[in-house]
Amino acid sequence: MKPGEFAGKTAVITGAGRGIGEALAKTLCREGMHVVAGDIKKESVERWKESFPEQEILAVSCDVTKAEDCEALVQTALDRFGQLDYVISNAGILHSGAVDEIDPAVWKQVIEVNLYGTFHMIRAAAPVMKAQRHGVIVSMNSKSGKKGSYKSSAYAASKFGALGLVQSAALELAEYQVRVNAICPGNLMDSPLWTEGENALGIQYARNRGITTEECRAMYDRQVPLGRTCRYEDISNVLLFLLSDDSGYITGQALNVTGGFEMR
Ligand SMILES: NC(=O)c1ccc[n+]([C@@H]2O[C@H](COP(=O)([O-])OP(=O)(O)OC[C@H]3O[C@@H](n4cnc5c(N)ncnc54)[C@H](O)[C@@H]3O)[C@@H](O)[C@H]2O)c1
Repeated sequence: MKPGEFAGKTAVITGAGRGIGEALAKTLCREGMHVVAGDIKKESVERWKESFPEQEILAVSCDVTKAEDCEALVQTALDRFGQLDYVISNAGILHSGAVDEIDPAVWKQVIEVNLYGTFHMIRAAAPVMKAQRHGVIVSMNSKSGKKGSYKSSAYAASKFGALGLVQSAALELAEYQVRVNAICPGNLMDSPLWTEGENALGIQYARNRGITTEECRAMYDRQVPLGRTCRYEDISNVLLFLLSDDSGYITGQALNVTGGFEMR
């Protein structure tokens, strides 16, 4: 990546209020980009954006299940910064439950956020990027987009679907020099999804197995060939590569960032 390559570029990111989205949005800020940070909880973006007083970060209320919210998010970037260089479709949720036990309404909600949400963001960005004849879209996927997930069928189905969407959009947008890729991280066991609240995955999974959260953490770490949990910087490094011109010949790909856990 060239020094200063991202300065003054405009990036839109969803689910920027906490976890991976927050970490990635901060990386985009540090690289000098104009960041339009959407989240269903706008106040959670406002909480962290104070730590970048020098920079104009737009916190926008955006529910990715609503096509019009995603269109408005893109329009906010255009109105304020006049261009749309990068879109990171990151917002996602996970509800687990056996296929014969999970409430169909909950199953549908996961599909609506993870799959429709990605579609709505790509749909909103595509006409703008086609007209510009440049742009990069990155979708936050998961290792569960490559392999089924025990008692998380809705999550895996949504992520498998999102990879089909990424590949199809990459085919459609290639002639406009717009690239579309996905990142498939492993488990980020220090992220709030795993650690915060009563329903944190780390607590749920430990409870299901009758072990402590520390034992659960060690068990997951042992499953990873590189022997540790995935970290935010593992993902942000790959994100910057995918946004940069260094990856200019890469489109329609789903890059595993799993410490060797997933190799397909
Ligand atoms: N944490 C992990 O271990 C992990 C691993 C692999 C992939 N991922 C993926 O990374 C992405 C981010 O996950 P995370 O761990 O940071 O989750 P998180 O729950 O910590 O954060 C998700 C953010 O998305 C927001 N959000 C939820 N529903 C939304 C909606 N309808 N519209 C807009 N925003 C919404 C939430 O308010 C929150 O700020 C997801 O797509 C997830 O599937 C996470």
